[in-house]
Amino acid sequence: MRAVVYDRYGPPEVQHLEDIERPVPKADEVLIKIRATSVTRTDCGVRAGEPFIVRLYFGLRRPKQRILGTELAGEVEAVGAAVTEFVVGDQVFGSTSAFKSGTHAEFICMPESAPLARKPAGMTFDEAAAVTDGVVLALMCLEAAGISKGQRILVYGASGAIGTAGVQLARYFETDVTAVCNTKNLELVGSLGADRVIDYTAEDFTKNGETYDVIFDAVGKHSFSRCRGSLRRGGCYVATDGLRNLFLALWTSRIGDKKVLFPIPPHYTKKNVLFLKDLIEAGKYRAVIDRRYPLEEVVEATKYVETHQKTGNVVLTVIGT
Ligand SMILES: NC(=O)c1ccc[n+]([C@@H]2O[C@H](COP(=O)([O-])OP(=O)(O)OC[C@H]3O[C@@H](n4cnc5c(N)ncnc54)[C@H](OP(=O)(O)O)[C@@H]3O)[C@@H](O)[C@H]2O)c1
Repeated sequence: MRAVVYDRYGPPEVQHLEDIERPVPKADEVLIKIRATSVTRTDCGVRAGEPFIVRLYFGLRRPKQRILGTELAGEVEAVGAAVTEFVVGDQVFGSTSAFKSGTHAEFICMPESAPLARKPAGMTFDEAAAVTDGVVLALMCLEAAGISKGQRILVYGASGAIGTAGVQLARYFETDVTAVCNTKNLELVGSLGADRVIDYTAEDFTKNGETYDVIFDAVGKHSFSRCRGSLRRGGCYVATDGLRNLFLALWTSRIGDKKVLFPIPPHYTKKNVLFLKDLIEAGKYRAVIDRRYPLEEVVEATKYVETHQKTGNVVLTVIGT
């Protein structure tokens, strides 16, 4: 099968296509023919081996897993003898488990207990390959913040993969949602269900006098020190990036009435994927896709993701849909 492999940490060009052996499912595994996958910021960090801490999980000197990619949508090609949930031909979507990758390839074997479910009705493979990562990460952050109906939440970086998921989930949880993004994404972000959208090129939300129960920094470009004045008493700033936030989380857990939360590592579970499937089928969640690239253009796709300018998600089409 064709797969994108890499054998050393480095720039996007360390990735290349190679013909490798197709995996064979063990008794509890399904073999999936991958139709579409994605390039995420996680893939980019792992490939670069940065921050250094990722090497503790993925290999100190060189990557232990040769194939990147965590999200997928495809068809079950074969099942192991003990598999009961899926049959050959099922259309599925989901993600590998945390610290596992391998979807930038034509086939992958996954345990049937992995974060995998039948593809939502009416959704294309491209769309189904571009929903899991953002939702799992945003859900983890919103749950850590304990969001509940009626709270005021601000989603900063609302146009990214995690941000577009954060806005839609915050809406689903019936909070009052203020989203912050650049001018070009105002309309899109409004259409995802934000009650109001602030253009950060025209207005600094920390200076308009509004306060929130939760400030969700979905893109890792803001900071607790800059936005603490916009938090209500007992409110929290939820981070997605920046190791300093680990220390701040520890510090504010003991001192002060405004907290920093930095929930890591993410937990990718079947329960999350089934929750997402239900949301999509109920019309309460949709995929936001910026660009699509064929598998062989993975280097170009990666370079685009590394501009930090993508809107939502970047899809890699693997086998024509
Ligand atoms: N905690 C975890 O386990 C975990 C896992 C994966 C990723 N992450 C981190 O989570 C963060 C978000 O990931 P993602 O995939 O959602 O990001 P992303 O999709 O790459 O975010 C890109 C979006 O952010 C917007 N943006 C860029 N700079 C901005 C700024 N200064 N203010 C507001 N918006 C800005 C961009 O639009 P404009 O430039 O047009 O505004 C673009 O739409 C990253 O820092 C990533 O490293 C965390």
